[in-house]
Amino acid sequence: MSISGKKILIAVSGGIAAYKTHFLIRDFVKKGADVQVIMTPDAEQFVTKLSLSTLSKKPVYSDFYGDNGTWNSHVELALWADIMMIAPCTANTLSKMVHGMCDNLVIATYMSAKCPVFIAPAMDLDMYIHPSTKKNLKLAEDFGHIIIPAESGELASGLIGQGRMAEPETIYTAVENYFTGNIPAKSLEGKTVLITAGPTYEAIDPVRFIGNHSSGKMGFSLAEEASKRGAKVILISGPSAQVLKDSNVELYKVTSAREMLAKVFEFYDKIDIGIASAAVADYAPKEVAKEKIKKNDDNLTIELVKNPDILKIMGEKKTHQFLVGFALETQNEEENAKGKLEKKNLDMIVLNSLRDEGAGFKNDTNKIKIFTKTEKKEFNLKSKGDVARDILNFVESQLLK
Ligand SMILES: Cc1cc2nc3c(=O)[nH]c(=O)nc-3n(C[C@H](O)[C@H](O)[C@H](O)COP(=O)(O)O)c2cc1C
Repeated sequence: MSISGKKILIAVSGGIAAYKTHFLIRDFVKKGADVQVIMTPDAEQFVTKLSLSTLSKKPVYSDFYGDNGTWNSHVELALWADIMMIAPCTANTLSKMVHGMCDNLVIATYMSAKCPVFIAPAMDLDMYIHPSTKKNLKLAEDFGHIIIPAESGELASGLIGQGRMAEPETIYTAVENYFTGNIPAKSLEGKTVLITAGPTYEAIDPVRFIGNHSSGKMGFSLAEEASKRGAKVILISGPSAQVLKDSNVELYKVTSAREMLAKVFEFYDKIDIGIASAAVADYAPKEVAKEKIKKNDDNLTIELVKNPDILKIMGEKKTHQFLVGFALETQNEEENAKGKLEKKNLDMIVLNSLRDEGAGFKNDTNKIKIFTKTEKKEFNLKSKGDVARDILNFVESQLLK
């Protein structure tokens, strides 16, 4: 079941994030959904009916009263909808919803609705963490509503923290998952997931190292997605410029392969899922020069020694963990990936080929194939956020077997 043909009632309340709702409406309409927008009177200070109605292709209502003694029926609007989405949901609207303070069209419609209700809160940091907001979100959850948590990042006020309305694509996916019967948002609740990310740097002397082009984007996206699904997430990253958007993820920064190995095994016994997306250097200089090497000679030979193979050791010591490896190949891709799956005692391997345009290290996109011992699944080129979702959906499907 897709979103096409679904009746989606979007209620906009008065927060800065209301501008993002335009993108959400556009995405739903593009996918063939029938979208009806209503808004609180305060929301009209932030966005216009004209832009919302242009995108939704329908009139937008903000009060009960129409022209010439007519009224905008909150009952009809409510019963029409397959789902109701409040995005953004202000502290005020949330409070009115859970306490039944029915003084505008949005709340009257909400209270008349029999369909599932999704809430995408958006507030400044202190409002979001205020006990009254927390309590009201809990009440909304107890009513059976689906909360799409606010994300962390820079807020309109200039503060940094949790409170930003989830991105339109995240909200879209939550609704799509609902209609397609896909895994619910908290599907990894109670699980501990360890993810390695980024490159490792192997020192040559105090100022030089051997490294690689890994950006860490894939590992960070996986960590954020696993956290969104309710997992406790331990992210062990080599040197990477990525900024973690989710403050619930435990981030440990390391430099070399040996440091990464040591950090992984601080947690290994307690994890349920291990995902090794780091591009760990295979070799490191045998000796690290104490002083900066001078350019006296025409040739310089550095003797390299093999680094420990972190993933292989994880495979050897596996007791209950579900282990996922990554293979970045340039030739004989499938054969090499499947070989790695066997040799390292993995449950699943994600292959990306440098031969595919848009895949690999530095891009924001990736194109993957997933292999288990018995299955193979190919995916299109997608953003790394979407790829993280595909990977975790696949992991979860394996855990259910
Ligand atoms: C510039 C500005 C930004 C605001 N942003 C938010 C916000 O993000 N979240 C929120 O809960 N309230 C925010 N408010 C306060 C709400 O607009 C206010 O509580 C209003 O009464 C909400 O009404 P409504 O829930 O009926 O739309 C903001 C107010 C202003 C003036």
